[in-house]
Amino acid sequence: MLDGKRILLIIGGGIAAYKSLELARLIRRRGGEVRAILTKAGQEFVTPLSVGGLTHDKVYTDLFDLTAEADMGHIQLSRDADLLVVCPATADLMAKIAHGRADDMASTALLATDKPVMIVPAMNVRMWEHAATQRNLAQLIADGVSVVGPTEGSMACGEFGPGRLVEPDEIVEAIEAKLGGTQLLAGRKAIVTAGPTHEPIDPVRYIANRSSGKQGYAIAEALALLGADTHLVSGPTALGDPRGVKITRVETAREMLAATEAALPADIAICAAAVADWRADTSTNSKLKKDGSGAVPPLSLVENPDILATLSAAGPKRPQLVVGFAAETDDVIDHATAKRVRKGCDWIVANDVSPGTGIMGGDNNTVHIITDGAAEHWDPMPKAQVATKLAERVALALTS
Ligand code: CTP
Repeated sequence: MLDGKRILLIIGGGIAAYKSLELARLIRRRGGEVRAILTKAGQEFVTPLSVGGLTHDKVYTDLFDLTAEADMGHIQLSRDADLLVVCPATADLMAKIAHGRADDMASTALLATDKPVMIVPAMNVRMWEHAATQRNLAQLIADGVSVVGPTEGSMACGEFGPGRLVEPDEIVEAIEAKLGGTQLLAGRKAIVTAGPTHEPIDPVRYIANRSSGKQGYAIAEALALLGADTHLVSGPTALGDPRGVKITRVETAREMLAATEAALPADIAICAAAVADWRADTSTNSKLKKDGSGAVPPLSLVENPDILATLSAAGPKRPQLVVGFAAETDDVIDHATAKRVRKGCDWIVANDVSPGTGIMGGDNNTVHIITDGAAEHWDPMPKAQVATKLAERVALALTS
């Protein structure tokens, strides 16, 4: 339920704008209050009259409308809300928010707010996949904006692919989760590992991998949003601290294991880190030098501890639910299924990280959830959405 929660709904100009009317109706039906800003382009698709009819309020359209400013200034409007929801978020609106533009009522309210922002993108598949939109999306995620969708399917423009607006009932669920209306994990403790590890060869060189940490950070934030007391143990990444999460930053696999064990006991452990399997046996405090003879230094490797397997076999300290990841390039399901058994964890989130997929380091993910004897296939979606869905699945497993 959204009892008394105040949503500022910003309606962009796209064919999916008509669904924002249903969204406004559903928010009110769940006890929430809606105020709406309709962009100039949005008015080409739905009228202020129909929006106002559903929000039971004045509809804000023009930044320079003196009557509206006197009534409720744009800054007040954005501060008075508990959450700003941009639906549909067009490519143009996403670009404006990502770049901090403020040239109309919607973009000014978004820039002036100190409240969380959620965007629900909908656009033509090529616009969605364009490098510029994906750049803007990455910036918005980095700025802490929640992204719901888009989903894949046939679109009004006749094309097929990602770009469809998520259905209004699912958007309301995302709003409820975001606003903590459903603190399904309150009182639970979660540990998440994320990012790569760096294994030194000498003081200036190290062994690493291409993991960005984005998926693990998003999972930590999603668990925290559901009320879990979340501790993120992260290898070196370029990401800022996720909101509402305790973070310990480490370099090596051994440091990651120590920090993870120190965070026990926990109810949930999600190992999303791409831990280096091996470290250099020869790590030295002096930089390795060429001796001019063309000889290369020997690089012998030793195996690192397995954090996921260690947590899975932690006896009385074992978290109730231990989830691992399997980044594979071939026979994804078979390898992940075998990995689940080998590591002793409860679930494996498997994904195909072959070079063509763009998953490693990218913003989207296509995952398969391997549980005891079953594989569930999820549609391609932004990593933030995989995180939200996974956190909800975890909550369901712990409460059922
Ligand atoms: N993992 C871990 N510690 C390690 C290696 C892996 O905690 N030293 C975890 C990862 O965080 C992930 C899972 O184990 O949740 C699987 O990682 P992956 O690299 O796919 O598995 P590996 O055991 O390294 O198997 P592979 O031979 O396929 O690399």
